[in-house]
Amino acid sequence: MKRFYLTTPIYYVNAEPHLGHAYTTVVADTVARWKRLQGYEVFFLTGTDEHGDKIVRAAEAQGLTPREYVDRIAEKFRQTWPLLHIQYTRFIRTTEPNHKRVVQHVLQFLYEKGDISFGEYEGLYCFGCERFLTRKELRDGLCPDHRTPPTPLRESNYFFDLSRYQDWLIDHLQKHSDFIQPPGYREEVLGLLREGLEPLCISRPKSRLSWGIEFPFDPNYVTYVWFDALLNYLSGIGYPDDPSWEKWWQVAEHIIAKDILKPHAIYWPIMLRALGLPVYRRLHVHGYWNLNQAKMSKSLGNVVRPGDLVSRYGADRVRYFLLREMAFGQDAEFSEEALVLRTNAELANDFGNLVFRTLSMVGKYCQGRVPVPGEETPEDRTLKERLLSAVENFAREMDNFRFHLGLNLLNEAVREANRYVDHQAPWELNKKGKQDRLGRVLYTLLEALRVLAVVLWPIIPRSSELLLGNLGLSPAEELSLERALAWGRLKPGQEVQRGKALFPRLEKPSLEVPDGEKDSAEEKVEEKTYPLEEFKKWDLRVAEVVAAERVPGTDRLLKLTVRCPEERTVVAGIAEYYRPEELVGKQVVLVANLKPARIRGVLSQGMILAARDAKGLRLLVPEEAVTPGAEVG
Ligand code: MSP
Repeated sequence: MKRFYLTTPIYYVNAEPHLGHAYTTVVADTVARWKRLQGYEVFFLTGTDEHGDKIVRAAEAQGLTPREYVDRIAEKFRQTWPLLHIQYTRFIRTTEPNHKRVVQHVLQFLYEKGDISFGEYEGLYCFGCERFLTRKELRDGLCPDHRTPPTPLRESNYFFDLSRYQDWLIDHLQKHSDFIQPPGYREEVLGLLREGLEPLCISRPKSRLSWGIEFPFDPNYVTYVWFDALLNYLSGIGYPDDPSWEKWWQVAEHIIAKDILKPHAIYWPIMLRALGLPVYRRLHVHGYWNLNQAKMSKSLGNVVRPGDLVSRYGADRVRYFLLREMAFGQDAEFSEEALVLRTNAELANDFGNLVFRTLSMVGKYCQGRVPVPGEETPEDRTLKERLLSAVENFAREMDNFRFHLGLNLLNEAVREANRYVDHQAPWELNKKGKQDRLGRVLYTLLEALRVLAVVLWPIIPRSSELLLGNLGLSPAEELSLERALAWGRLKPGQEVQRGKALFPRLEKPSLEVPDGEKDSAEEKVEEKTYPLEEFKKWDLRVAEVVAAERVPGTDRLLKLTVRCPEERTVVAGIAEYYRPEELVGKQVVLVANLKPARIRGVLSQGMILAARDAKGLRLLVPEEAVTPGAEVG
């Protein structure tokens, strides 16, 4: 059996889960599911990091004992993950007795081995980082992360001599080019290693901090939180007592963000080496989710709660957006507007529409059963081959954590399938009584849906399972990459269901969609393309704004007086993006033959065209001034 062991960082319980934590955990869940699809047995570990100064201070701030406090927040993490359909194998807490035993075992072992020494140290301590900082690390005398001056401290402590292992680690990194991914982070680590490693202070006197794991050979000290935390990756799989830990450890991969690169890329491999254990296979490092250009974090207070997003948009949309929007390794900016726009475009309009129109047509033309396919034509073969090759390339991107590129490839295949529907026009085939051909076209589309449902499962698990169910298939049987690629699994005659739209188009209050766009997906089924004559019915003209003012009592609406060439008034929902005075003299595009309407008592004779993206809304304007009233087409 192929095996795969995957971890997330264990999160500090000084803060409630936010979108940054959710991203890492969604990535881990997606990769775990992806590996399961490939036939791997997977162990997926997540959990909470519950010792240290930060936790004690957070508990004090809430008037709780550390124990009460950690129980409370650990529970919040545990309750958040199922909301996002995250299915981990084990949730580890560093306050578990078993984990403590492992940490003490390791300390004893390294002490006896001579890797740990005792000595006095005088240095600059940052309480936010919970460690001594070197002078080189300071920026303008301040901790670069917390922007606070470190406190000078003189203490006797235990130290772990990292420098002994420095050359070995450089060598390991050079020999294993994929040890740290993406490659930029590997370079960063090599740079740090070449600067030289100082001994790592791995104890804290109990007189200063008692909320930690006691040293087995010195009850006056507790362990440095990082030394404790990293070992969760071993204690979580049963090291050293449960013999199955070894089979998992051989195939271990970690996911983190760049904030904790140094402990994972330097301390941890050295700890493992000192213990005589093999190092992990790969470390996958991602960037930050920013909100208004700043890293989302509790200390800045600019956090988004995963539970809120899920209740507004549903787990699958949130998962999809996180994976599609961020290039793994780089930073990304979060906004709900971008979430709505992207998922409306890619999940509702493209994928959802393909699903809905296909299943509707099978309902209408084939009595809701998988049709008997007629002969395959080159067009059918092309669609099949393009889809299967997109899936192959998607698999490569997924294996390398390039989720956004992988999804792009599938989206391209979905659009191709939508074009195939438009070209093959099953409604015409039905009208003309070409049953064989109709059967083949719809069969090809149903198979495409089956393949897409399986390969999208790691990203949008709930929707994928619903879709498989609607296709009359059992997720338990179908969820295998190998089976997905075996074209032709659907049996003619098998019942399929149209089901509800998987991704109904979302409308954000600030994104009011004109009524004309509110067609249900069903109505779109046969009317995705229109003959040119249809377009010609619209009287589109250039109009010049001669006056503009706010419509009293609203924040969104402006009353524009335009010349086109006659004068008219038009009400436009653009007040959030344009001040009235900016508009006077501008030329815009007007839909001139809309039925007039009275909006807030103002007569509106037409509609102004604008484009909208994540940044907001911009009017469509002619490149150069034209005569007011000029035809647009
Ligand atoms: N407890 C340590 C980890 C110990 S692992 C042996 C810790 N905890 S943490 O709560 O601060 O979590 C840090 C991790 O949370 C990051 O590495 C990342 O996985 C996730 N993120 C927290 N904020 C984030 C963003 N703004 N953006 C992306 N990920 C973020 O460090």
